[in-house]
Formats: sequence, C-alpha cells, structure tokens
Amino acid sequence: MEEQSSRSKFSGKIGFVLAAAGSAVGLGNLWRFPYLAAKYGGGIFLLVYIILAVTFGFALMTAEVALGRKTGLSVSGAFKKLNKKWAFLGYISASVPIIILPYYSVIGGWVTKYIETYFTGQGTAAAGADYFGGFISQTWQPIFWFGIFVLITALIVFFGVEKGIERVSKFMMPILVILSIGIAIFVITRPGSSAGLKYYLIPDFSKFSSTTILAAIGQLFYSMSLAMGIMITYGSYMKKDVDLEKSVHQIEYFDTGFALIAGLMIVPGVAVYSGVENLDSSGPALMFQVLPQVFDNMPMGHLIGGLFFILVLFAALTSSISLMETVVSIFQDKLKISRRLLVVLVTIGTFAIGLLSSLGFGPLSFIEPLGAGTSLLDFFDFISNSVIMPIVALFTCIFVGYVIKTKAISDEVKISSKFHWEKLFVVMVKYIAPIGLVAILISSVLNSLGIAKI
Ligand code: PHE
Repeated sequence: MEEQSSRSKFSGKIGFVLAAAGSAVGLGNLWRFPYLAAKYGGGIFLLVYIILAVTFGFALMTAEVALGRKTGLSVSGAFKKLNKKWAFLGYISASVPIIILPYYSVIGGWVTKYIETYFTGQGTAAAGADYFGGFISQTWQPIFWFGIFVLITALIVFFGVEKGIERVSKFMMPILVILSIGIAIFVITRPGSSAGLKYYLIPDFSKFSSTTILAAIGQLFYSMSLAMGIMITYGSYMKKDVDLEKSVHQIEYFDTGFALIAGLMIVPGVAVYSGVENLDSSGPALMFQVLPQVFDNMPMGHLIGGLFFILVLFAALTSSISLMETVVSIFQDKLKISRRLLVVLVTIGTFAIGLLSSLGFGPLSFIEPLGAGTSLLDFFDFISNSVIMPIVALFTCIFVGYVIKTKAISDEVKISSKFHWEKLFVVMVKYIAPIGLVAILISSVLNSLGIAKI
C-alpha cells in the first residue's frame, strides 16, 4: 500500500504541472530573485536570467522530467537504472535538498512570524528599520518560528494530503499572483519609483560580469527546483500521455513570470522607501524590510500585508513539502524503515541542521564562512546553489548527452507529443551547457576564494 501510494501518478494533465509549479514557485521567486536582481545590476540580471531560463532551464528541466518518466524512479534510482556506474550522481543530487530544506525552513519561519506580526497589529512596527534585524538576531524567537514551519511541513508530508494540496494550490496560487500584481502596481505608481523601475528593467551592460551569470544560473536551478532530483521524481509520477514539452514550458513560464512580478513589487519599492543607492547592497533581508514599508503606506495595508504573508507562507510550504518529500523518499529507498518514522527522523534532522542557519544571525553571527558580512545561511545557500547544483547539472548533461545519448530523452518526449525544441535541447545539453557550467564552476570557486580572502 505504502509503495503503491508513493508511486502514484498525478491525477491528470494539470496535476503534474500544478505540483511541479507548486514546488518551483516559492521563496525563490518572492524572496531570493528580487534581492539577487537588486544586487547584480537589475536589468542586466533580468536579461541574463530570462535568456538562461528559456534555453538552459528548458533543456535541463526536459532532461530531468523525461529521465524520471522514462525510468519511473526517483533520483537515487533513475541514474543507476540507466547505467550502474552513474549511481553516484543520484547521491550527489540527493545531498542538495538535504542542505536546502533546513535553511529554507528558517526563512519559512520568518514568513510565519510576519503573519503573526500583521495579525497582532504590529504592521507599523514591522516597517521600522530595525524590526527585521532585531528579530532575526535573537536566539529563541526565530528558532520558535522556524520550528513551527518545519512542523507544518512535516505534518503535511506525514499525512500526505496530496489531494488537499492540489486543490488548495489551484485557488491560492492565482490569488497570490493577483495580489502581487496589485502590490506591484501600487508600488510603481508611487512617486520616486521610476529610478528603481529603470534600474530593474533597463539593462546596464557595464554591470555585466561572470558573477552575474553565476548568480543567475544558481537562481535558475533554485527557482525551478532543478539539479536536485525533484523534477526527476515528479517526472516519475507523470503519465505517459501528458504532453511533456508543453508542461515544461508552462512551469518555466509561470515560474519566471512570477519571479519578474515579485521583483517588480520589491525592487522599485526600495527606490521609493530607502533610495536607489541602497539597491545593490540589499541582501536577503530585502523582502522583509521593503514590503512592510509598502504595506504601511498602502490603504488597508496592514490587512493586505497579513494576507500577503499568508500566501507567501503557502507558496513556501508547497516548496518545502516537495523538499521534505524528496529527502524522505531518498532514505526510503535506502533504509527499510516505515515512511512515517522517516518523516519524524527527517524532521528532527532538519531542525538540528537548520539551527545553525537560524543562530547564524544571532549568537553565531561571528561565524562568517564566506567573508565579512556573510552568514551561515549564506554559506549553505552558496554550497548548494553555486557549487553542488552546477556540478549535478554538468554531470546530468554529460550523462544525457554522451552516456545514454539525447535520443533516449527525445524518444521519451515524443511519446506524448512532437518535440518542437529538440534541436535547441540537443545543442544545449551536449555543448553549450557543459561548457558554460565548467566555466561557471571555475569562476565560482575562484570567486569564493576571492571572497574568503577578504
Ligand atoms: N523552487 C523553490 C523556490 O523557488 C525552492 C525549492 C528549491 C523547492 C529546491 C524545492 C527544491 O522557492
């Protein structure tokens, strides 16, 4: 029974797209994308990101989903089934969600805290300059909210309310999109927003560098839940008659579109409320500092703020669930323990590891692993996004391009439709992506050495 249900197929056409989009759309879009866009030059980052999304993102997502559907296995088994020597790639991929889930939950905890903030009438306090910093630098408060977030995630995974999530996503996600568009329009029409808008939309080529690409590609993996086996696992649940190529496009457009809107709501907001000069120095705190100021100035802003953070929590949960589900399934394939006991163990492990990231802004803030001003959370984020994920992506491309050959993937795609973008797919996977990834990895390592020296 257990086996059966964990290998069930998504309901219909929309089932796969919704679940995958639910995994893809999350804090990556709302929290991570805007601050990276602000940090790496605005418009130029946007341009690079979009180009990468429709080429690189498309190719890698197609490869992953097709690998999953072809083998019917999740990440640890899929590579092994096609070639025994490549089992290692399954293990490296599996390490990514294990690293991400804990720190993702720490940020999920911050979001949960903000819901409380708004519903206890502290919307104005939240708009204060020190509110966010004051909160995360405490010891127990952030741990408490982080714990709540992990628990909610664990409960959902424990009871496996897939149907419920599918149903709720169908109606929550559109509300989140509409609300974000509304907030973006409000922000853009404030006096003073044009400087931020220009910064966000008009590429300044002098700001282009290899770090722009590195950051954009790390964000792409993160946002589309790539290079960590999630799309392989989801692909394994996909029915053979669901149009694979079209589904991949839908997820990619939705995810990217939503990130762009999130940036539109937050980046010009910085210009209005704290001045453009602060744009590139803004970091992970961005969403938690700018949006409360926006809400504080909006008619009915505190109510909208509360509602907004509830929806963000929801988007974060659909992602953290997919992360935890993946971690559980990795151990489930290896250990002969019941699924429920595993959920409990994974929850405890997640909490223990996440403590580091949470305390990294308070009592452990003296640990600055990537140089002055960086935190433990930055470190985990960097290791997964800028180191392991590019490695996984590189090996996946080599595996698909040269070991099983691209035809194996093309054939899988063609079971459900014509493969319109086949040429692009082949060229990307065999040549452009591997070369690009090697370049990125080298620059990433050099970069981190550079940072470490400061
Ligand atoms: N893609 C999710 C987001 O954008 C985050 C995530 C990463 C989810 C990895 C699952 C796996 O927030």
